Amino acid sequence: MKFGHFDDQKREYVITNPRTPWPWINYLGNEDFFSLISNTGGGYSFYKDAKFRRITRYRYNNVPMDSGGKYFYIKDGDSIWSPGWKPCKTELDKYECRHGMNYTNIKGEKNGVTANVLYFVPLKTWAEVQKLTLSNNSKETKKLKIFSFLEWCLWNAASDMENFQRNFSTGEVEIQGSVIYHKTEYKERRDHYAYYSVNVPVQGYDTDRESFFGLYNGFDEPQVVSEGKAHNTEAHGWSPIASHYIEVELKPGESKDFVFVLGYVENKEDEKWESKNIINKKKAKDTIAKFDTAAKVDAAFAELRKYWDNLLSIYTVDSGDDKLDRMVNIWNQYQCMITFCFSRSTSFFESGIGRGMGFRDSNQDLIGFVHQIPERARERIIDIASTQFPDGGCYHQYQPLNKRGNNDIGGGFNDDPLWLILGTVSYLKETGDFAILNEMVPFDNDMSVARSLFDHLTVSFDHVANNLGPHGLPLIGRADWNDCLNLNCFSNDPNESFQTTENKTEGTKAESLMIAGLFVVYGRDYADLCKRLCKNDEAARAQKLVSAMEVAIKKHGWDGEWFIRAYDYYGRKIGSNENEEAKIFIESNGWCTMAGIGKEEGLCTKALDAVKERLDCKYGIVLNNPAFTKYYIEYGEISSYPPGYKENAGVFCHNNPWIMIGETVVGNGERAWDYYRKICPSYLEDISDLHKTEPYVYSQMVAGKDAFKPGEAKNSWLTGTASWNFYAISQYILGIRPDYDGLLIDPCIPGSWKGFKATRKFRGDTYHIEVVNPHGKSKGVSEVEVDGKHQKSNIIPVFGDGKEHRVKIVIG
Ligand code: BGC
Ligand code: NOJ
Repeated sequence: MKFGHFDDQKREYVITNPRTPWPWINYLGNEDFFSLISNTGGGYSFYKDAKFRRITRYRYNNVPMDSGGKYFYIKDGDSIWSPGWKPCKTELDKYECRHGMNYTNIKGEKNGVTANVLYFVPLKTWAEVQKLTLSNNSKETKKLKIFSFLEWCLWNAASDMENFQRNFSTGEVEIQGSVIYHKTEYKERRDHYAYYSVNVPVQGYDTDRESFFGLYNGFDEPQVVSEGKAHNTEAHGWSPIASHYIEVELKPGESKDFVFVLGYVENKEDEKWESKNIINKKKAKDTIAKFDTAAKVDAAFAELRKYWDNLLSIYTVDSGDDKLDRMVNIWNQYQCMITFCFSRSTSFFESGIGRGMGFRDSNQDLIGFVHQIPERARERIIDIASTQFPDGGCYHQYQPLNKRGNNDIGGGFNDDPLWLILGTVSYLKETGDFAILNEMVPFDNDMSVARSLFDHLTVSFDHVANNLGPHGLPLIGRADWNDCLNLNCFSNDPNESFQTTENKTEGTKAESLMIAGLFVVYGRDYADLCKRLCKNDEAARAQKLVSAMEVAIKKHGWDGEWFIRAYDYYGRKIGSNENEEAKIFIESNGWCTMAGIGKEEGLCTKALDAVKERLDCKYGIVLNNPAFTKYYIEYGEISSYPPGYKENAGVFCHNNPWIMIGETVVGNGERAWDYYRKICPSYLEDISDLHKTEPYVYSQMVAGKDAFKPGEAKNSWLTGTASWNFYAISQYILGIRPDYDGLLIDPCIPGSWKGFKATRKFRGDTYHIEVVNPHGKSKGVSEVEVDGKHQKSNIIPVFGDGKEHRVKIVIG
């Protein structure tokens, strides 16, 4: 069952039934000011950091789900309704929510009145703009009463949820004309306030929550709205809100626009006040003035659309398959921007108070984003590397506001350092900007111990090389990419966190085959880079260590039919036929086949066949099989999940592309494509009722074959699946891959495909690429033509002339 449809022309998903199986959300803003917004107007806003600068309040895990947001209430006689159906839930005559590229348009119609709200964050603006258009389509004059609503968060979203003994006494507001200012804690340590304005005179306002709702009502039935009159309250403590009250008269056929601005301001210490206890409103007024007419708003909106036209023109495909084209050209790239902005911090599954920017996560996010805005990727690489330790180890995450690493969600994950090589090399291949390697980058944000970014790559590489276990394989540390494979945790106390507890630290021997494969792939990249920099001794040293790892993998990591997953604390195999449960895992088989380990001897095809046979299911490739059915203290969190969910045999989508890429290494285009399609949301739109999450973005996990409800997805939006699946489809299946010396074109597609067309902007030039497949092959390039001339290599050179170039590739 579907709840809407794609509008590819406008790059929107159009939801036509507000009763989606889960709130289907969107993100506004992509620089400093951000909002999350659901299809019924739920969600919240923050500046840079969803934990430390939360602007509006949101209650998690609410009943019903997704209550609380930025709402409009319309009173038309006795009928009270909201354009997004919620919170009133008055049945609408028509409802439509269009989620687009960083904007959302919600439209409701009732009794001849249409209310259309366009929500977006204009470029370079610390504010969300809401343009409400009311139209009277009826034959009589309408006298409407409009109430806006939002609830302020007391800035720190964590303490806002728990420290009520203080919170209920701190709230402060100011009201001036049609602008409501939220200034809690501004008096002392904060240099920021927020405001909510409307561009017309108001007939009243409320800023005290209890007066607005009444003590016994919820969001669906504010007392003030039922009474049809604002109370003009000024909040003192308790829970400050912002609500404007506007009376509107509309003649038949008439429309009126109202512009609301929800903004954030920072003031310098000596510019904080206008007079005693009266805040300096200059910056707020400046921003409000920029959007005080519908025409100004429309112009800002057009700019946002243009911005996305540009971003999405860098890589486009024309394959003849709408579902594929809309993912590659629109939604997957959009999701990559979102994961770039938020890492795993804030969604309807990530509370925004738990995690900040992940070291491994943000590095991986770059591979789907770097082509969009390389300058921002550059800055991110430096930020991430600045949190590294001198020995190459890493904080697992840092907070976006202060960019400092912290141990809140653990540390000592031994895969972390290697992802910095991936992030940096991807940036270098996209841009050719080798100067970044000479940037001086601090360790643990301490500039006195800064070294070049290149040196950070060296210590990243060495961190693995210096931490090998008894089989010459990498020690896993707290865990590797799989946060739940906690081989040193040994926890039998429910009050301990799997992420931060290590009960066995001495004599630990646990080793990871996944890090081993990762080391071979990115160790080779590191050695290759050294060669390019003419650091031949270092290249040779690195290559030697990588080769030794390959030998160790073949010797101790091959189980006969597939690659084992790890050695546990006691040196016993995990992910081996010898095990009773979880005989095979996806991650090590993905990385070892991506590395092509034992390819000549047939190990890769064998391992991939085993994955197909044991892990593949209707909804994708599950993480392990058989699922764990009991708790193994020596494995940790992974065995705590019920079978078929999350890291215990769920389809953990992030790692599926590793197998897809592995399949392209052995040239199996059919399988790579089949795996791609299985987890790709646009192909799942028809089963939205089962799938549950948005059909336009990837989810972290889809319940696997052992689950109670296979096919049900969770944790949409913030997942490494976005960048990895974009990487797999764009660079390995369609095969258009940036390389140091040009654009490498090496598709691996199903033999039945006749070909496809693509456009790629790369280092200033534009390449129009046509791939034809006359012989029904999957892989191999038999002819290359560039601007009408044949060339041998399938690396298309960088012309550097800023012009358009025609490339024709024949597969065969
Ligand atoms: C989840 C992982 C996540 C980890 C760290 C675990 O409970 O299953 O997917 O990476 O927490 O937040
Ligand atoms: C989600 C985390 O964000 C990521 O870092 C981790 O690799 C996966 N879960 C797998 O556990």
